[in-house]
Amino acid sequence: MTFSAVDVIRAKRDGGELSDEQIDWVLDAFTRGAVDPEQMSALAMAVFFRGLSPRELARWTAAMIASGARLDLSSVPRPTVDKHSTGGVGDKITLPLVPLVAACGAAVPQLSGRGLGHTGGTLDKLESIPGWRAALTNDEFLAQLSSVGGVICAAGDELAPADKKLYALRDVTGTVESIPLIASSIMSKKIAEGSSALVLDVKVGTGAFMKTVEDARLLATTMVELGTAHGVATSALLTDMSTPLGLTAGNALEVAESLEVLAGGGPADVVELTLALAQQMLVAVGISEDPEDALRDGRAMDAWRAMIAAQGGDPSAPLPVARERHLVTAPASGTLTRLDAYAVGVAAWRCGAGRARKEDAVSAGAGVVLFAKPGDDVVAGAPLLELHADDPARFESALAALDGAWDIGAADGFTPTPLVLDRIG
Ligand code: URA
Repeated sequence: MTFSAVDVIRAKRDGGELSDEQIDWVLDAFTRGAVDPEQMSALAMAVFFRGLSPRELARWTAAMIASGARLDLSSVPRPTVDKHSTGGVGDKITLPLVPLVAACGAAVPQLSGRGLGHTGGTLDKLESIPGWRAALTNDEFLAQLSSVGGVICAAGDELAPADKKLYALRDVTGTVESIPLIASSIMSKKIAEGSSALVLDVKVGTGAFMKTVEDARLLATTMVELGTAHGVATSALLTDMSTPLGLTAGNALEVAESLEVLAGGGPADVVELTLALAQQMLVAVGISEDPEDALRDGRAMDAWRAMIAAQGGDPSAPLPVARERHLVTAPASGTLTRLDAYAVGVAAWRCGAGRARKEDAVSAGAGVVLFAKPGDDVVAGAPLLELHADDPARFESALAALDGAWDIGAADGFTPTPLVLDRIG
């Protein structure tokens, strides 16, 4: 059946409910190029303001999945489980998590993207490892998933192509921050990826899409319902993103920190979240192994080295470092009571760790290293953080992003926030 795109836009603009047939048609026609980007942008804005009913959202997500292929992982001789994070500053958890869960006996098919804006992309981080390649054929992907148990690679064009086109429009039309559009975008890709279970890490705070726990809970519940309706055992953790995760934001810097975790060390918050997500993933596929054992006895590190080598990377090669550094010292003595995630993310991005347009290159060594986290005592004149960039001209705008990014005060001015705020599903 053919509809008029203008009628579909008007119906949603005026607060009406779209029929299943209208939704199927508009997403299919947009993917084929028969609905113009201008029209799809207008529809995205109408959805942004009017929302989607649960029926519309379920159909919208199903139509996005149907725009491409759903992967068949039935040949993989291990239970399959993936995780998805809604994105945060210093969020390198995928790097230690995938080999850790693989080392415990599950298969983790992590199809990832590149970063845009203030949060880094997993592929950008891994591409800082000499030789590592993100593009795998379907056969390579399945073979590695079966043998090593973990794959992090680029999502192919066949995976929810409607989302790829729609996300590119949303990014430039101010329509990213919509719960139904985010939920359908993430879940269409994750359901099409074919794993039997999924754990979502929904971030809350200044460095995340969702600024309040209420919005994050609504997004998490919406995604858990969509996954469950499509036969994927889905659950979610709500986790704090008011301050960066760990002590680094930037591609090679985050790989180095992940290696510390895999070697049994690393910052406490990165270890805590890696283990919390690993436990949730293993429970979802009925594996009773304690992931802490696999970190401690080196099996997770072995799985990491096998994963990197299988994709052409040299796990022993030195990581790239930025050519220039700029140290920022504490302006006063006291307790660091706040260090804003968004500001640190923008500073890392301006140092060259992230891209403003999708065709931009990223610098492997650029980013921010923190010397203190909220709750730590700092001394006036001692190092607070350090900017890393290849081009020192970048420091001025990175420093501007950090203006007002922290508070130093009395110890009782700091209220610790739990890292894991809630669990859903
Ligand atoms: N990540 C996605 O994949 N889609 C969104 O809409 C937002 C974040």
